[in-house]
Amino acid sequence: MTTKIAEIGMIGLGVMGRNLLLNMADHGFVVAGYDRDADKVAALATEGSGKKVAAEQNISAFLNCLKLPRAIMLLVPAGAPVDAVIAELLPQLDTGDLIIDGGNSHFIDTARRTQELAAQGFEFLGVGVSGGEEGARRGPSMMPGGSKKAYARVQRLFETVAAKVADEPCVTWLGPGAAGHYVKMVHNGIEYGLMQLIAESYDLMKRGLGLNNAQLHEIYRKWNQGILSGFLLEITADIFAQPDERTGRDRIDLILDAARQKGTGMWTSQEAMQLQVPIPVIDMAVMMRDLSGDKAERDLLASALDSSSRPAPEGAEGDQQDLIDALENALFAAMLLTYVQGMALLHKASTEHGYDLQLAEVAKIWRGGCIIRAALLDDLWSAYSKQPQLAHLLLDRRLTQKVLDRQQDLRRVVSSATEQGIPVPALMTSLAYFDAYRSARLPANLIQAQRDYFGAHTYERIDATGTFHSEWQRS
Ligand code: 6PG
Repeated sequence: MTTKIAEIGMIGLGVMGRNLLLNMADHGFVVAGYDRDADKVAALATEGSGKKVAAEQNISAFLNCLKLPRAIMLLVPAGAPVDAVIAELLPQLDTGDLIIDGGNSHFIDTARRTQELAAQGFEFLGVGVSGGEEGARRGPSMMPGGSKKAYARVQRLFETVAAKVADEPCVTWLGPGAAGHYVKMVHNGIEYGLMQLIAESYDLMKRGLGLNNAQLHEIYRKWNQGILSGFLLEITADIFAQPDERTGRDRIDLILDAARQKGTGMWTSQEAMQLQVPIPVIDMAVMMRDLSGDKAERDLLASALDSSSRPAPEGAEGDQQDLIDALENALFAAMLLTYVQGMALLHKASTEHGYDLQLAEVAKIWRGGCIIRAALLDDLWSAYSKQPQLAHLLLDRRLTQKVLDRQQDLRRVVSSATEQGIPVPALMTSLAYFDAYRSARLPANLIQAQRDYFGAHTYERIDATGTFHSEWQRS
């Protein structure tokens, strides 16, 4: 490649980096990729043949391909590898060069890197990229944060390669510093919640109703055409229709029931606890991944405690379709409440971290390309477009009505599950969250009294201002 003509360079040619770079090249951009791994460089050279792509295993040759000032994107594993690549890169860069971290970095790392790099005269953007391999290749949802001036340099490129919904790109500058990676972290937290809820619906239909994989495929396929329409429903339907390449049996039945994780869901829960924002569906999803991992203990207890689920409650058998319809509504309400929780966290974080997030824009760019894209994001977009400063989405009457209309189905599903001994913690907690938020009076007065009783921590009264203490033991 002629020197200094590539619009952008990619470091890290794994699945995400390579596909995103090829996506850019598909749109006519001149690009360059670098990796230490010769196989990955060769894969880029092969897949990029006929396009304006340079594939380099030599860092100096790679840097020499790039237009000045350079724009270099990293798609390497989050954590220490990002710092290692930046450290290696810095001595070879010039002031004003732009580094873009496109991985799932923790927002605290991104905030630190933003400061460190700015102090040395470099531009830095932390960009959440969602959509997996297919998204990277055909159009991801991108969540950039950092200096707006730096974003302007890559805006056209990002808008061109991002997913489109009604011709609008699923990317926009979200805010300063780590705003982009923060939004991506919450995206992943919501992703965990939605996946757990879908998994619970599967358990209810498989263990509770005894449906087979072909029936499950059909139900999820149908649901994906209605109110639940979204990427995770789409792939769920597909999963139930796939035979195993080794045995010819249904692949889903051969997969170990212990979910793994890279930790972004846990980060979301930790951060929500820190900011004191309740996001119980996401917390439950993280907890259930952990619990699923205790497979040996579960196996022991299953045989000791007879884990067979009790039969479906009286009358439910004849009403199988009725229960499936109720489950569709219950799942919708619970999923909506999961987005509500994620958005509540973003609302608080926006002030706490000074991101000044436009939540309408967040909902808008999640409508395409990313893992949590779903039809119901249109409702969130419209709610925040009307009231950008809305403190809590449940205060939007139109949206809350959608939960109210389905709350009886959610109650029915949760009680049916508990009667049968099928664990549905995320469905349950979504209902409890809703019930708690619409309770003007909660039993927290008793907690206040107990704290004051044993520790003289004082309490507030409903009939007078100030703090009070009582001598409980003498009364
Ligand atoms: C995405 C995904 C992706 C994430 C995987 C795995 O938006 O494309 O969120 O970024 O890495 O979903 O996440 P876990 O390993 O934590 O489940």
